[in-house]
Amino acid sequence: MAKKIESLRGMEDILPGEVEKWQWLESKAHQFFGAWNFDEIRTPIVEYTDLFSRSIGETTDIVHKEMYTFEDRGGRSLTMRPEMTASVARAVIQNNLLRNGASPNLYYIGPMFRAERPQAGRKRQFHQIGAEIVNEGGVDADLHIIRSAYYFLKSLNLQDVKIKLNDLTIISSSAGSTIREKLRSYFESHKDKLDKDSLYRLDKNVLRIFDSKAPEMQAVIDEAPWEDIAPLSDDFKMLMTRLEADGIPCELNRRLVRGLDYYTGCVFEITSSGLGAQDALAGGGRYDGLYEELGGPKSPCTGFSIGMERLMLALTNNEPSLEQQVSCGLVYLAPFSDDLEVASQAESLAREAARKLKSIGLDAVNGGLQKSLSNHLKRAGKRNARCVLMIGADEVASGQWQLRWMEEQTQETVKAGDLLITLLRKIRGTELL
Ligand code: HAM
Repeated sequence: MAKKIESLRGMEDILPGEVEKWQWLESKAHQFFGAWNFDEIRTPIVEYTDLFSRSIGETTDIVHKEMYTFEDRGGRSLTMRPEMTASVARAVIQNNLLRNGASPNLYYIGPMFRAERPQAGRKRQFHQIGAEIVNEGGVDADLHIIRSAYYFLKSLNLQDVKIKLNDLTIISSSAGSTIREKLRSYFESHKDKLDKDSLYRLDKNVLRIFDSKAPEMQAVIDEAPWEDIAPLSDDFKMLMTRLEADGIPCELNRRLVRGLDYYTGCVFEITSSGLGAQDALAGGGRYDGLYEELGGPKSPCTGFSIGMERLMLALTNNEPSLEQQVSCGLVYLAPFSDDLEVASQAESLAREAARKLKSIGLDAVNGGLQKSLSNHLKRAGKRNARCVLMIGADEVASGQWQLRWMEEQTQETVKAGDLLITLLRKIRGTELL
């Protein structure tokens, strides 16, 4: 027998049964970011390597160790995108989206690639939902981007969302080189405590030492005199005050530097308690120099990306759970009969009904033909279906539907012509009609 070919480690299939959760999350993102005035952007998965090494930074873990880089047939160095902020910048500059001083608000959903060691919540192909406010400086834009990340997660009913913030404004200013030098001499004087990666970063880019997750590095990082030498900017203090006034739970963390070189101001990470070791659900911040770095005009920007795998994990451990949310409006179609002729009619009625329900935006699943109804009811219960549309011999003969509401444990007979309106009214509420 021929040897089976398997998918690459850390790059996973999303199969039927799972894919519905992805579709649900994607549609929530389209709805939310559309309503918040972000326009969707899609960029190629493969870009010139230079795009990422120049923007993310040569000494970052991503560029140094994690990129999927290869030479194409023409001898060009190409990379599978490890993130999308750089790709969005490239696309905005290339397509001249900043003409007449425009400031596009953009969002994206898609796969990214990083050769990290796979574990729960850490994949080599993973997916992000992200948003970028391009060409807008100031506290208002920072506030808007953090609010949009926070309220998007809240729109998914995610509990326990926390935001950690730090300010890289001073270190990115003209005073930055003095601060870096002070940090360098601090770490130099503790050289014996630095691991191999940090020794490399000491000379190349001292700020990146703060990215280290190695347990043995944490004490020396904690002791770094960061607070004394890099005070918070007034804008950042105002941002914190306004976030607090909004009731958004945030916490200052002076050790947060966020693993990518392009940040120049407020940076933040969002965590959720259900995640375990990989608790960063999302990350982002202000990056005012990237567009110039990539040959474009000076354009202050801010943005964030949410890891979809981690978001799904957090939602799975959430109350209400992902499954409950995905199926809370689910209509389960239950064709059943042990009579061959009835069975085939019931099945085609179920298929037709599923198509119609989906066409008006309801979630519907066809349970497939069964000999008896009880199997269907068990399966519908497992999927947390809102209701079951029973299609047996009586329904086929009468052209009327039997509809069972699972939570209420009630049943009603609905005329064929009234089915869609009845379901819409009960599942979506009358205001949408
Ligand atoms: P990042 O912190 O590298 O930022 O990634 C954002 C999120 O993507 C992380 O918080 C995490 O949820 C998810 N993520 C990252 N790596 C993996 C992985 N190997 N497996 C699963 N999930 C992962 C960025 O990518 C920036 N582009 C964010 C940004 C946008 N900054 C400004 N604009």
